[in-house]
Amino acid sequence: MEGMRSREEGERSRVVARMIADSSFSQCWFKYGLMHKCHWRWMWLIVALLVLAFYYFGVSSSMLLSGVEKDVLAVNLKDGGHSRRTAYSRSREVMEQVYHSTDIFQRSFKEMEEKFKVYVYPDGDPETYYQTPRKLTGKYSSEGYFFQNLRESRFVTNDSAAADLFFLPVSCHKMRGKGLSYEKMADIVRAYVESLIIKYPFWNRTVGADHFFVTCHDVGVRATAKVEHLVKNSIRVVCSPSYNGSFIPHKDVALPQVLQPFPLPAGGDDIHNRTVLGFWAGHRNSKVRVNLADAWQYDPILFVANNRLNRSTGDYIYQNQFYRSKFCICPAGSQVNSARIAESIHYGCVPEVIMADFYDLPFNDILDWRKFSLVVREREYDNLKKILQAVTVQKYRMLHAGVRQVRRHFEWHSPPIKYDAFHMVMYELWLRRFTIRF
Ligand SMILES: *[C@@H]1O[C@H](CO)[C@@H](O)[C@H](O)[C@H]1NC(C)=O
Ligand SMILES: *[C@@H]1O[C@H](CO)[C@@H](O)[C@H](O)[C@H]1NC(C)=O
Ligand SMILES: *[C@@H]1O[C@H](CO)[C@@H](O)[C@H](O)[C@H]1NC(C)=O
Ligand SMILES: *[C@@H]1O[C@H](CO)[C@@H](O)[C@H](O)[C@H]1NC(C)=O
Ligand SMILES: *[C@@H]1O[C@H](CO)[C@@H](O)[C@H](O)[C@H]1NC(C)=O
Repeated sequence: MEGMRSREEGERSRVVARMIADSSFSQCWFKYGLMHKCHWRWMWLIVALLVLAFYYFGVSSSMLLSGVEKDVLAVNLKDGGHSRRTAYSRSREVMEQVYHSTDIFQRSFKEMEEKFKVYVYPDGDPETYYQTPRKLTGKYSSEGYFFQNLRESRFVTNDSAAADLFFLPVSCHKMRGKGLSYEKMADIVRAYVESLIIKYPFWNRTVGADHFFVTCHDVGVRATAKVEHLVKNSIRVVCSPSYNGSFIPHKDVALPQVLQPFPLPAGGDDIHNRTVLGFWAGHRNSKVRVNLADAWQYDPILFVANNRLNRSTGDYIYQNQFYRSKFCICPAGSQVNSARIAESIHYGCVPEVIMADFYDLPFNDILDWRKFSLVVREREYDNLKKILQAVTVQKYRMLHAGVRQVRRHFEWHSPPIKYDAFHMVMYELWLRRFTIRF
């Protein structure tokens, strides 16, 4: 399949290249003009170009090209005929920039939409308050959206034989609201999972390897600690994907933390309005944040505020600053993850992720983060200004276009839509569906 497709593409571009290189065509063009004598050759070129254009706009790019890339493409197509071949490969580069492999992602994503099935353990006890996330807003809305989206989606099946993965509906977030101790929460989760292990045959076939749970609260991760295989074997979709904790890359999934709804609309192609070099305002609740504030809070070029700006006033001072900044600094707080990354992406500010240390970025295995962010080591806080100033206008444009391209992957919707955060998480799960069952 893959071979066929790339052979086709190769053939198509070879045809175009041949037509352009064809010297008799050029002679024909210069000697006789447009539709005289050689009009058959001319027609062939139009057909070839139409096929090419259709390929760009119709098949693979309509979902992937943002306005910027379409402009690039338009300019390229207006070029002289001799450069069409290069234009072709150049715009494919632009198009593919944010993914490790656009082709694989698109094809596998489509397959997932058609085939992926998840079995949700049916709710038993009506008292199962630990199974329902509290709400869709606020800091942990990602978890709420996931639960709701899964129910709204076509991925759920009640036929266990058809299921690729099994979902353990445990939401530790609500337990937290009940003011339970970690100890008590862990006991509740253990009792719940053990009841499923005894009642259903599914767990024992893989010792939990085809099971997953989703929690956006670090408490949720702690509450699962008493079921050893839940931590070591099952797929944990969590908002605190720290290598330094129990997060296991390639097994577990980093859930992007998104604070929805966004109070202000998405930032567009507004590079000229971004006059502040770098922006951060927040709590000093980690070492890197303290260092950052100490080093830069009085800097005239960087906007680094030692304190959280008031987020709830009508003026949205905090959010507006995202529109005005070129780079938004996302240092690790008490947790490695923060909603700031998704906010930066939403407002069109290139996220500058300082917390590279021990941090697994969301969708890392699908998206190439180097194409829409700067990842800087925590200890380089001192060099921050130099690093940001060294980014060329050209590179910045590339990063900014990348941010706009990945935006849809960091937004939750209800009902879910193609390529949104829910589907990306499902795709990550789909990539982890291969397990050996006994
Ligand atoms: C799944 O649900 C459908 C409709 O609710 C029902 O007809 C079917 O028997 C169920 N299948 C299993 C395996 O429980
Ligand atoms: C799964 O294995 C556990 C431990 O070996 C056992 O207690 C449980 O009954 C098994 N579950 C089923 C459904 O057989
Ligand atoms: C990693 O974890 C250990 C023990 O939990 C802790 O002492 C250490 O400070 C952590 N390191 C980082 C960089 O978070
Ligand atoms: C840039 O800022 C000006 C003034 O604040 C505003 O009117 C304009 O809409 C902004 N442009 C973009 C593209 O955001
Ligand atoms: C933020 O603004 C709101 C509305 O004006 C006000 O009620 C609140 O006290 C402010 N909070 C802080 C920390 O200044």
